[in-house]
Amino acid sequence: MCGIVGYIGRRDATPVLIQGLKRLEYRGYDSFGIATVGSAIGVYKKTGRISEGEAGAADLHGYAGIGHTRWATHGEPSDTNAHPHTDCEKKIAVVHNGIIENYSELKRQLEGRGHIFRSETDTEVIAHLIEEHYDGDLLAAVNATLPLLKGSYAVLAIAENTQRIVAARDASPLVLGVGDAEIFAASDMTPLLEYTERVIFLEDGDVADITPDRFTVYHEGRVVERPVELIDWCVEDTRKGGFAHYMLKEIYEQPQSFYETIRAGIDDRVRQMVMEAGEITLVACGTSYHTALAFKYMAESLCSIPVRVELGSEFKYFTPPLRGLVIAVSQSGETADTIAALKMAKARNCPTLAITNMQGSTVTRVADETLLMRAGPEIGVAATKSYTAQLAALMQIVNLRCEGAFDDALSHAHLAIGDILLQDVHEAVALCSKADHVFFVGRGPFYPVSMEGALKMKEISYVHAEGYAAGELKHGPFALLTEETPVVAVCTPGPTYGVMASNIKEMKARKAPIIALGVAGDTELAEIVDIFIPIPNTHLLVQVLTASIVLQLLAYHTACALQRDVDKPRNLAKSVTVE
Ligand code: M6R
Repeated sequence: MCGIVGYIGRRDATPVLIQGLKRLEYRGYDSFGIATVGSAIGVYKKTGRISEGEAGAADLHGYAGIGHTRWATHGEPSDTNAHPHTDCEKKIAVVHNGIIENYSELKRQLEGRGHIFRSETDTEVIAHLIEEHYDGDLLAAVNATLPLLKGSYAVLAIAENTQRIVAARDASPLVLGVGDAEIFAASDMTPLLEYTERVIFLEDGDVADITPDRFTVYHEGRVVERPVELIDWCVEDTRKGGFAHYMLKEIYEQPQSFYETIRAGIDDRVRQMVMEAGEITLVACGTSYHTALAFKYMAESLCSIPVRVELGSEFKYFTPPLRGLVIAVSQSGETADTIAALKMAKARNCPTLAITNMQGSTVTRVADETLLMRAGPEIGVAATKSYTAQLAALMQIVNLRCEGAFDDALSHAHLAIGDILLQDVHEAVALCSKADHVFFVGRGPFYPVSMEGALKMKEISYVHAEGYAAGELKHGPFALLTEETPVVAVCTPGPTYGVMASNIKEMKARKAPIIALGVAGDTELAEIVDIFIPIPNTHLLVQVLTASIVLQLLAYHTACALQRDVDKPRNLAKSVTVE
């Protein structure tokens, strides 16, 4: 939620900041702004998308600056509430990602001392507090301010007549990029890719004093060395590459991202951890929660490991008794609820593993070990290639515990994924795009696949959708079935085939149009449903992947038919860094 970017060096900061914000726009896109520093601070901020408002920033220039793209938490999206925020005299500007929990109290105190506030945000208190402590030394003023803040922050601050940026992080991500006589700061690596591959991931509690050719990191007042790491993503990975949307590009990248994640394998330390686990608990949110649920079905039925899956947001307040390995699954590695759950597991002395797509992200710093997915940057807000890469990582764990029984299925899965991308879903799209409600149903691992299909549908097309265990529909939701309520059912050979076919007939009897995903050649199923979408008759693990991809395509094309903003659906942000 919210992206911040900073630049100091030999270039004009404005285009660097604007370009950087565009790369971070998936973190929040209700408003944006930049501030540059020369003899004075210049600020430009605007409600709406960057591409619509960026021209207004063209008059700002400076060799240092900060920028922000917002997902509103305190105060509606507006030009005034957009960051950067400044002090009374407009000599100091700050951008902030996170939440200042004690801002009301701080604001009251500051107003009592004569400070004039312009916005409704929590962030503005930071600018005024720095102002109170500022006597020409920005680092000292920031250091005096931070202990007064309760909550989470990644902050960048600049001051007039000062060629430096002061950066600080606590419970919100912040990365520095090191160039040749220039330094970048950002919420994640994506804005840095076109300038440098050398990055430093700041730790919670770090404060960095940044000038064009030098940066010094302090922790609890002492200078500390943070390692420079090399990023293995490249800038081309972040481009749309001729596709209409990032989401479509990312759907099409799945054969490769799945293959790369399998190819990278599992290192020895993670192997040992997995092999020693008597029980496994997974914590995750959203799409990652669905991959965790799919893992539960696969691991329990194929290799008899007891698995529990918990939503990060619930786990924190209702922590169950824990034994065994705890795995946090998070594409971004920055989801606040997942991180909180992971920290609680650590506090209970459980071995912890992070499965994430983001090198250096917070979950990798908290967990004992990391299994890195190789999906590459995912820009579309809807998770697609990260979902199948998570499945690749989790399926490898199942395979490891089953002594390589699925080696063959996993090493060929990318071929089936490639084939399924050609599947035509236009008839199903025609039905779903006219509907107000769509049900997605399945059994076993296809239940979480259905939940994920429903999540994709609602998040990008705004068509209300529910994912249900097929057997549960008649315990209530049947009341909603009409000829205008399509049901998407996944029904493939296996122990539940017969009962799924019966469920489908029961739903048909209530006049619901049925879109069935079944294996190619299943004419019996094709005859009883309205629309039949074939998936290859492969191993169960591969069917989980191919069925999921059909549902991604269905959601994507439905959203396009309804002319939705596919990559940036309303009210959302990709990385949910607030609880
Ligand atoms: O980065 P994470 O995997 O931790 O994100 C969790 C959810 O916010 C995320 O999966 C969300 O549900 C998806 N963007 C939906 O497509």
